[in-house]
Amino acid sequence: MANFNLNINGENKQVDVSPDTPILWVLRDHLQLVGTKYGCGIAQCGACTVHLEGVAMRSCQLPVSAIGDKKITTIEGLSENGNHPVQKAWLEHDVPQCGYCQAGQIMSAAALLKNNANPSDTDIDAAMNGNICRCGTYTRIKSAIKTAAKMG
Ligand code: FES
Ligand code: FES
Repeated sequence: MANFNLNINGENKQVDVSPDTPILWVLRDHLQLVGTKYGCGIAQCGACTVHLEGVAMRSCQLPVSAIGDKKITTIEGLSENGNHPVQKAWLEHDVPQCGYCQAGQIMSAAALLKNNANPSDTDIDAAMNGNICRCGTYTRIKSAIKTAAKMG
């Protein structure tokens, strides 16, 4: 066990965990931030996507010891009250079906738009292809990303 000081959603959080603990489990089990989901545990599905310094990362494969003072943002911290353009576009397009993959989808989409305000179809495919949706909401996801891009 070791003590880690983490910056999560703009707040300082202290946890006492084994250094190899994936940040996913720190979020879910120690900080009760359960919006970030566990899907595969092997960086293949995207359900656990968070931002590390604004970059989309798979939290299931990110050990707490690798974070240092880098800022983590989870779905809970993406916006004050669900009003990030991606979240608004998701509502407009009624994207989710079962919903399980959607926090990860939204975090990947938000990271994409942060770096590329007007992504092409190819850019969207490249950024989102690691986020799997068993319900097949891919068409609505792509439309919602285009709407969010227009909202700026
Ligand atoms: S749970 Fe992390 S990528 Fe699937
Ligand atoms: S909405 Fe069900 S897995 Fe994506």
